[in-house]
Amino acid sequence: MLQLIKDLEKIRETLRYHAHRYYVLDDPEVSDADYDALYDRLLAIEGENPELITPDSPSQRVGGAPIDAFQSIEHRAPMLSLGKCTTVDEIDAWLRRCQSELDRDVGHLICEPKFDGVAVNLLYENGILTQATTRGDGTYGELITANVKTINAVPLKLMGDNVPAWVEIRGEVYITIEDFEAYNRDAAATGEKLFVSPRNSAAGSLRQKDPSMTAKRPLSIFCYSIGAHSDDYQALTHLDAIMDLRNWGCRVNERVARCADGNACNDYIEQLGQARDSLPYEIDGVVVKVDDLATQRDLGFYIRQPRWAIAFKYPSVDASTTLLDVEYQVGRTGAVTPVARLDPVRVDRVTVSNATLHNQDEIDRLGIRSGSTVLIHRAGDVIPKIVKVLKVGDGAEISAPRTCPSCGTELTRGEDEAILRCPAQLSCPAQVQNAVIYFCSRECLDIKGMGVQRVEQLLNEGLIKRNSDIFTLTKELLVKLERMGEKSAQSLLDAIEDAKATTYPRFINSLGIRNIGEDTSSILADQFPTLEELINADYESLLEVDNIAETIARNVVDFFAIDANRDEARRLVELGVHWPTTNVPVDTDLDGQIWVLTGKTSRPRTEVKSLLVARGAKVSGSVSKNTTHVFAGENAGSKLDKAQELGIRILDETEFDALIERK
Ligand code: IVH
Repeated sequence: MLQLIKDLEKIRETLRYHAHRYYVLDDPEVSDADYDALYDRLLAIEGENPELITPDSPSQRVGGAPIDAFQSIEHRAPMLSLGKCTTVDEIDAWLRRCQSELDRDVGHLICEPKFDGVAVNLLYENGILTQATTRGDGTYGELITANVKTINAVPLKLMGDNVPAWVEIRGEVYITIEDFEAYNRDAAATGEKLFVSPRNSAAGSLRQKDPSMTAKRPLSIFCYSIGAHSDDYQALTHLDAIMDLRNWGCRVNERVARCADGNACNDYIEQLGQARDSLPYEIDGVVVKVDDLATQRDLGFYIRQPRWAIAFKYPSVDASTTLLDVEYQVGRTGAVTPVARLDPVRVDRVTVSNATLHNQDEIDRLGIRSGSTVLIHRAGDVIPKIVKVLKVGDGAEISAPRTCPSCGTELTRGEDEAILRCPAQLSCPAQVQNAVIYFCSRECLDIKGMGVQRVEQLLNEGLIKRNSDIFTLTKELLVKLERMGEKSAQSLLDAIEDAKATTYPRFINSLGIRNIGEDTSSILADQFPTLEELINADYESLLEVDNIAETIARNVVDFFAIDANRDEARRLVELGVHWPTTNVPVDTDLDGQIWVLTGKTSRPRTEVKSLLVARGAKVSGSVSKNTTHVFAGENAGSKLDKAQELGIRILDETEFDALIERK
């Protein structure tokens, strides 16, 4: 047992080391596959010995149970706000105030980016992350530990030997601009709610009730200060504290700089202002802090703001440009929404050529005509908005189309709805295309390589007409396509094969029922554990489910009332889409077994894995003395040799099939 504990800790240390290199230092040393194999091994051993799982184990990042309501927790030291200014003269004035207050020079200053994310407070006790909270009102924050644990750049355990008995670490959780835009692109293609800014997207992700949802969002963190801490810790300067944070394995920003005086701060502000466009994350200014911590204490606070720091905010810019035209786009559920095409203009940091207009009511409210000069606002928002019309143009009035811009069908407008819809559904090319893109996207079946262009090509060439056709594609068909060699055809087919192994909520999500996203799909999966139950669910039974509103219930019933939709859902299953049926009472006869798969098998590996997992077994990447079974297909290599050496039970294809069919 002692040896097992030691082995486990060694695996965890190795995983922590590589996760730190990857997520904190952006400098990985091993391949993803090697990391995953070791991680699988950890899961396998922990699965066998659940009593040995520790809260700092890398396996504990996911798996927190959904939360009903966020608990309110008092910060050990309050989380303050910052006084703000918008000119460098105000920085000089602030410095003079500090000096006269102290009657001496403040010494060095630290300049750092003011990250535009969400402030969090991480409590580490004996080096272990025990609690994470939002800033809240500065005194009390909301407990979001399970969600924060899913952020790979947040260490579950601090490194090094000078870790305090307990310490609060403060930082800003954020999402990169690229990830935010990718998220919104997917959401726009599928008619889902968009986030207005990366900050809004990070905040929304952190406040998910289900940590597995947070886990899907690519969040990261910059740690920028230490809050309260035990008496065994002391730092002399803010920069020393930042170094300590870095040595403990926390992610700190590389642009933190020590400045000798106000002039140096002004230079920093100017330089960062210039670099701002090319940063992968959003910042809205610079925080200037007095470096010496004793001087910070001498300066103290004014109400809830420290006198020893100030935030410089870059001006947010509005710009004016000409509205060229308004185009109407058709989403996957048939919603027809207006998008303004603009004469390209630089707003804040990006060139803007499109802006959202939401719906016709907004166009009417703004009184837009083409050729109008409009004011664009982009306050940290990546999708800019038209704020008002500065000069009405002499072009045509923008009126809503009567027919679908894609298929020509007459549009409808629900009684209380501001949105126009094309009712043609599967006979509208735009809806089909967006539905397929959605089906292949990350939150649905996640088919790698099926991006917008590939989907467009497959539809245009008539190789697919609906989602399920993807599973009938063959190499012979694919290689005939332009820009598609043998190799890429094979890798697309492999990705399609892999995507067949999914989860039930994702499958439901992929059906594209109106207004049903990931959260609602999970709720439906819990309540209607089999597809047939979901298909046959009536309005009343849907309404009985918590969090299922009338419109959702109606949408589900309406969706499955259509023969083509029922057939399509069933066809997907017939063509091999499957999921572990953990929602139905499972036969857990394989509970406690640890399997390793090797060699080529006629069932895809993902399917074999799901079959085993569904019956309670764990599947690991490598053979060890903990392995209980090895499924050896054709041409099995070293794993088979090792299994033989260790005397592990080995099954061939026939034996495996017999086991799986035996219930
Ligand atoms: S220091 C008293 N440093 O700004 C010190 N804050 O207005 C306050 N923020 O909610 C925190 N980047 O979330 C500090 N480099 C940085 C920051 C930063 C962003 C946020 C922080 C806080 C707000 C204070």
